[in-house]
Amino acid sequence: MSLIEVNHIQKVFQTSIRREGRFGMLKSLIRPQMKTLTAVEDISFSIEQGESVAYLGPNGAGKSTTIKMLTGILEPSGGTIRIGGLIPHKNRKRNSYQVGVVFGQRSQLLFDLPVKDSYELLRYMYSIPHSVYRRNLDEFADVLEVGHLLSRPVRTLSLGQRMRCEILAALLHEPEILFLDEPTIGLDVVAKERIRAFIEKINREKGVTLLLTTHDMNDIERLCHRTMIIDKGHLIYDGSLQYIKEHFATERQIRAVFPDAVAAQLAAGVYMDMAGVSVRLEEQVLRLTYDQHVTDTAELLRLLLQRANPRDLTMQDESVDALISRIYREGITESKHPHRHIGEPLRVTGGVAQ
Ligand SMILES: Nc1ncnc2c1ncn2[C@@H]1O[C@H](COP(=O)(O)OP(=O)(O)OP(=O)(O)O)[C@@H](O)[C@H]1O
Ligand SMILES: [Mg+2]
Repeated sequence: MSLIEVNHIQKVFQTSIRREGRFGMLKSLIRPQMKTLTAVEDISFSIEQGESVAYLGPNGAGKSTTIKMLTGILEPSGGTIRIGGLIPHKNRKRNSYQVGVVFGQRSQLLFDLPVKDSYELLRYMYSIPHSVYRRNLDEFADVLEVGHLLSRPVRTLSLGQRMRCEILAALLHEPEILFLDEPTIGLDVVAKERIRAFIEKINREKGVTLLLTTHDMNDIERLCHRTMIIDKGHLIYDGSLQYIKEHFATERQIRAVFPDAVAAQLAAGVYMDMAGVSVRLEEQVLRLTYDQHVTDTAELLRLLLQRANPRDLTMQDESVDALISRIYREGITESKHPHRHIGEPLRVTGGVAQ
């Protein structure tokens, strides 16, 4: 049995519709008209102890809803979840001992009180022995560099400072699993990097299992060996980011710098009528963008070197950011993934290095 087992979960929300017109609000109160919204339709996965998994998807895909079901805050409308053998919503308290959660958009610290008071409360709630509490607080405060913030009221902290304190709060009771829902949202580059370094460390050194949602691809490249992508409540990809890059990154750009604008213009002429290659010229810099699965890179380079005399050549593949947003927009389509069995719901698995 895996540490986390999710089988065909579903979450349907009932929401009331506000009626229009006179007395609309009153009517809605007396006899509410209900609408159902399926946030998670059918998602299954399992995660082993020690894994670090990214959980991606466009806005509204159902990521936070999944995490809330995993923590037991929400009860699935269908399907089953087992975490360390427990059913989260039925064993919410016992489950909370094995799980730590950080919601980037919501604080679990008491806003008006010093950070330390929230930690004391957590110590009491989780019955953390004094020595363990002390050791964890000292160690994490040191690595996260929050020691000087502990007596400050939470509301006076910057976002980056508060987020570091939140992560510490989630780990005081030494959970086996850490769920992070957009832990780096709104942070600057340096703050993000600090948090990433810490999360990476607890995964590597303490074997804490990670499930992380984010819209920042650097988080994933740095932290996660496995990526799951969901869309409209379905899992559409489960595998490594590397596999996505290798199999789905199609766009490539060659940038050639010439000694002068005339040389660049001459070189550009060679590609002007070539199907599938877009040409951009700026002074002495020529950019050729093409689909590397259609156009042969070696052939393009050969032409370039035969007909012109570039001073410098660089090649760049589509960024992971661009790639993932394209997958969100277009999905993982059959043509781009030849192994799909027709008729099966699309769920791609790509090699995960264990
Ligand atoms: N309590 C709720 N009541 C009604 N609808 C909800 C509720 N919580 C979430 N939803 C809806 O369920 C869908 C999935 O929401 P969810 O928060 O899981 O998305 P997400 O993948 O986390 O998106 P984001 O990237 O924007 O955080 C959305 O359409 C959302 O409006
Ligand atoms: Mg969310």
